Amino acid sequence: MSSPADDDAVPALRLVDVGVRFGGIAALDRVSLEVAAGEICGLIGANGAGKTTLFDVISGLRVPDSGKVEMDGVTVTGWSPHRRARAGLRRTFQRVQVFGWLTVEENLLVASEWQGGGGGVLADLVGAPSRRSRERDRRERAGEVLAHCGLEAIRHRQAAGLPIGTARLVELARALVDRPKLLLLDEPASGLDHAEAGRFAAVVEGVRDADGTSVLLVEHDVPFVLEHCDRVVALHLGQVLAEGSPTEIRDNPAVRDAYLGASAA
Ligand SMILES: Nc1ncnc2c1ncn2[C@@H]1O[C@H](COP(=O)(O)OP(=O)(O)OP(=O)(O)O)[C@@H](O)[C@H]1O
Ligand SMILES: [Mg+2]
Repeated sequence: MSSPADDDAVPALRLVDVGVRFGGIAALDRVSLEVAAGEICGLIGANGAGKTTLFDVISGLRVPDSGKVEMDGVTVTGWSPHRRARAGLRRTFQRVQVFGWLTVEENLLVASEWQGGGGGVLADLVGAPSRRSRERDRRERAGEVLAHCGLEAIRHRQAAGLPIGTARLVELARALVDRPKLLLLDEPASGLDHAEAGRFAAVVEGVRDADGTSVLLVEHDVPFVLEHCDRVVALHLGQVLAEGSPTEIRDNPAVRDAYLGASAA
């Protein structure tokens, strides 16, 4: 996705010298990285490398001890998760999080609920036209995303008890309803078989192609990362060990030693 002509473009995400300490442990140590607009970037590293901590910093759940975070060239380091969400950031979780008591479709409808808009509570109470048309738009958009994710047939099923592959797609669909600019996926292929992981990746690639969404994904499934990412960053003990194309990362001896060796242990 990145080419020399893109070098001047403002990255969708930029981290500069980010540091996070937990007591004596440097979970992140001067981590700098960029995700270009429309790029699917993979983040790999052994257990404890700092991947989830990095996601927490990007999404605003954790304020770093040092360094800064920029989205689209704007510094967001001190922003709340909610404010970042309004700026176009969405995330899925290592342990999949869907609202089990709601249907698949309702999981998507609540995602866009917070957008609110004109009319407020009074419009809600009297069912004002602005409210009704917004409601219609929301359902239409949810329908579009359900179709794109292959979830139409189960839109009225309760989300609790769905197989993990489907639950991950529902979580993804919910993240896509508001057309995020930047999507963070924490171990999206975890628990999925090869076919399910392929379907998940196809949805993500389709959204990137259609909307120019930028994606940063953490994943232990190295073949998945090599196949579906434009670029890969390897973290090791809280530091960026290497970054490059999937083939460069695959053939990098330091990555092989630190990651492939450690994950085999
Ligand atoms: N809340 C916390 N309190 C103390 N230490 C923490 C906390 N969260 C993470 N750590 C430590 O920070 C380091 C990075 O952890 P993190 O969860 O970010 O790793 P990870 O790369 O996501 O690992 P995994 O692949 O197992 O999910 C680890 O040494 C971990 O023990
Ligand atoms: Mg993690």
